[in-house]
Amino acid sequence: MKQEVESRFGNLTTEAAVLRRNSIAALFEQEPNRLARFVVEAAGLRLDLSKQLIDATALDGLLAIAEAAGVAEARSAMIAGATINPTEQRAVLHMALRAAGGYPHSADVAAVLERMQSLVDEVRSGRRTGHTGRRITDVVNIGIGGSHLGPQLACDALRYASDAPLGVHFLANVDGGELDRIVTRLDPATTLFIVASKSFTTAETRLNATSARTWLTGALGDEAVARHFVAVSSRPERAVEFGLAADNVFPMWDWVGGRYSLWSAIGLPIALALGMPVFRELLAGAAAMDTHFVEAPAARNMPLMLALVGLWNCHCLGAESYAVVPYDDRLRYLPDYLQQLEMESNGKRVGLDGTLLDHHTAPVTWGGLGTNAQHAFFQLLHQGTRLVPVDFICALEHPAAPREHHDMLLANCFAQAEALMLGRRFPGGAPDARGIDLAAHRESPGNRPSSMLTMARLEPRTLGALIALYEHKTFVQSVVWGINAFDQWGVELGKELATGILGEITGDAPPAQHGPSTAALVAAYRSLRAHDQN
Ligand code: F6P
Repeated sequence: MKQEVESRFGNLTTEAAVLRRNSIAALFEQEPNRLARFVVEAAGLRLDLSKQLIDATALDGLLAIAEAAGVAEARSAMIAGATINPTEQRAVLHMALRAAGGYPHSADVAAVLERMQSLVDEVRSGRRTGHTGRRITDVVNIGIGGSHLGPQLACDALRYASDAPLGVHFLANVDGGELDRIVTRLDPATTLFIVASKSFTTAETRLNATSARTWLTGALGDEAVARHFVAVSSRPERAVEFGLAADNVFPMWDWVGGRYSLWSAIGLPIALALGMPVFRELLAGAAAMDTHFVEAPAARNMPLMLALVGLWNCHCLGAESYAVVPYDDRLRYLPDYLQQLEMESNGKRVGLDGTLLDHHTAPVTWGGLGTNAQHAFFQLLHQGTRLVPVDFICALEHPAAPREHHDMLLANCFAQAEALMLGRRFPGGAPDARGIDLAAHRESPGNRPSSMLTMARLEPRTLGALIALYEHKTFVQSVVWGINAFDQWGVELGKELATGILGEITGDAPPAQHGPSTAALVAAYRSLRAHDQN
């Protein structure tokens, strides 16, 4: 399998070499049909791949790779509920969470949505009050990774859809400073906590939940927990052991991966902040992208095309990372969200059969907001030695931004993509009187690839479609690489070592064998701690 991946991309080497000597700008003249071929529309999104350093021949080659890799068959297996996450023996059915029906488990999904609806209606209407009878004004989501990033992204992205009855806060990091920053602004009597943890064993979430409970009960007494804590977990019994009443625990399921879970009850903060109709619209947008992914022919299939262009950039043009640059403050958490989605899913070094791969997998996903990023890392994109493709993302209309701001924002977005493509030559090339060849310093080589993803408006449906687009892109790439996108064993070792070191730091456990550097750190912190306690 692994050799097949190498040789499949190897077949495109010649085409890649030809294209590297060509220019993206020239491709528009050589391929009169280029825009029609490289612009795809779906579910309210328009993806323009025409500024990539790719041509029709290369694209045909990539489509053939997807076919040979069995993307269509893998997609069918996912939809049918097959165990496509073999190392955890799980199906992968996040698409069932946003479908109107027709998937395995659709009845369970509908039942949980109904339960979410009643909690959301009760809290937002003020019928469900806190322990002292006061209205809930703030919701704190306690969760990390997939139990945090999606809800945080959606709440912020859809802020204009809110009728603002509730403030929503996200407590993810075990850094006590984050807990302090959040709770100091809140009143226990009017705060509802959601403990969001698929496993309900994540150490950070458990400590944060325990500290939040202490903060609450310190002010209102133990009985207050029943009206101020709900939980979401695929192991509801653990939430009950933690002290929550069973009817305050919302289920999710093993067949929903953590980083694919915002569509489940993990999305409760979204629904509480914005209302259930908004949450259902978000689901509908994702479902529209699912339908497109399943039904659209390969050459017009947006997730497939996005995935293939990403593979092309890595395997044929040598890109080791790519940057996500939304020109929209509402999408400021998108790079963080995509980092988990893509890098936790596809940051793998063995194939599905466990053998070591001899090809690369996920590139580094990173990014930041335009225009700020232009004044930070864009210098490297324009003139650095590394090839970093960019995904530009923007909405053509904005519900609140003054026109002159939005005009300038979008002008910059479009200009950066064009500047990366065209570059700029400077005549001259001879040192001036000071011995400086300024032309060489000013020149930008251009031919740097980017994608432009636009939508008329950023609203629940288009946000749902956008997130589902990247989910499916991630899946397609995993199939071509022959890896399991749905496990994450690599994060376990650090968790285990942290548990051991915590025991040593707090003095309960004897010091373990560490490397000299770690041993010195532990010793220094232990002695500081001992000194502080005296
Ligand atoms: O970081 C590993 C991870 O397991 C992620 O995959 C997951 O989203 C996160 O931890 C949180 O897990 P849980 O929802 O079980 O607390």
